[in-house]
Amino acid sequence: MTPETNIPVAVPDLRGNEAIYLARCIEDNWVSSAGPFVSEMENRVAEISGTAHGVAVVNGTAGLHLALLAAGVAAGQRVLIPDWTFAATANAVFHAGAEPFFADITQQSWTLDPAALEQILAAPKNRIGAMIAVHALGHPAELNALTAICRKAGVALIEDAAGALGATYHGRPVGNFGEFAVFSFNGNKTITAGGGGMIVTNDGAAADRMRRLSAQARQASAYRHDEVAYNYRMTNLNAAVGLAQLERLEEMLAAKRALAAVYDKALAGRPDLAPMPRQDWAESSYWLYAVLCASADDADGLVAHLNQRAIGASVFWQSLSAQTPYADCPRQLTGVSHAISGRVVVLPSSSSLVPEDQARVVAALAEWRGSAEVR
Ligand SMILES: Cc1ncc(COP(=O)(O)O)c(C=O)c1O
Repeated sequence: MTPETNIPVAVPDLRGNEAIYLARCIEDNWVSSAGPFVSEMENRVAEISGTAHGVAVVNGTAGLHLALLAAGVAAGQRVLIPDWTFAATANAVFHAGAEPFFADITQQSWTLDPAALEQILAAPKNRIGAMIAVHALGHPAELNALTAICRKAGVALIEDAAGALGATYHGRPVGNFGEFAVFSFNGNKTITAGGGGMIVTNDGAAADRMRRLSAQARQASAYRHDEVAYNYRMTNLNAAVGLAQLERLEEMLAAKRALAAVYDKALAGRPDLAPMPRQDWAESSYWLYAVLCASADDADGLVAHLNQRAIGASVFWQSLSAQTPYADCPRQLTGVSHAISGRVVVLPSSSSLVPEDQARVVAALAEWRGSAEVR
């Protein structure tokens, strides 16, 4: 078969003012982290998420690290995170000197299962210092339940909203439920800055501290430092791209929602492929559209089938607790994460995906048959 043009899973959609703002950085000689676009982007993301402060950093992983430090997570503590997430969530916990404690997700949302958490948090031996709730694939976690559980246990809630900018929970933007939330502007996200991250919070003192920590904790005018810190501040070049992207957030979210509606329709009634779950409480950002296959072999087969037709697709997150770097981490699992691990396939989801190309994906999905029903 001669492949037609390749259709990627998720690529940047740079059809706005990106080049103009980048040129302005060069003209004005503001290319590094001291530059007006950085604070403008902080204000814009805080506004979108309904929070008071944004702290711009080099990527989402660095953002999670600083949020954990600001939440007071310390060596010897554990941070409760879902077993089904990107490695960055767990890695940031290690960067903060703590250890992840893996909890499970529900089949109905692929996000943290509140039912088991209270008991995990209540056991002093678990030493849980904070919880990170991941809005998987852009679909908000069950935030009312999670905030109540964290409040009761006296631990901070951090939203890992890496791919969820623009998503809402009961109509309220994600990012303003936890003490801190973190967005990623990595190249595969709906909104990219080339690379970048943003912590949002309503805690002004914590925002100031995280901003200081992101810049070697250097005091304003002198080579004086008040903490061991990091070089995590976003550059003006990245913020220039990010700001241009944010101007088109609503358009890109609408494009993603429209793509999801087409995929939903194409998959309706199929026994061998299930669309990713959605809950009434959530309006997802639809960062990536995913399907659940009956088995890991089916998922590999589907990816191969699509790739042979020059259509991007890949097997998505796999249980972290089953992977070598995290093998010794504590966990209390119900089996859902392990059950879907290796069976979730992400499909082309770029906001720039044109209807003819999505029709090619839909036609290729129609040609494929799984070996069994999805359960
Ligand atoms: C759930 C989750 N958390 C954290 C990150 C890390 O973000 P970054 O790549 O900007 O460091 C990602 C990135 O894809 C993610 O999907």
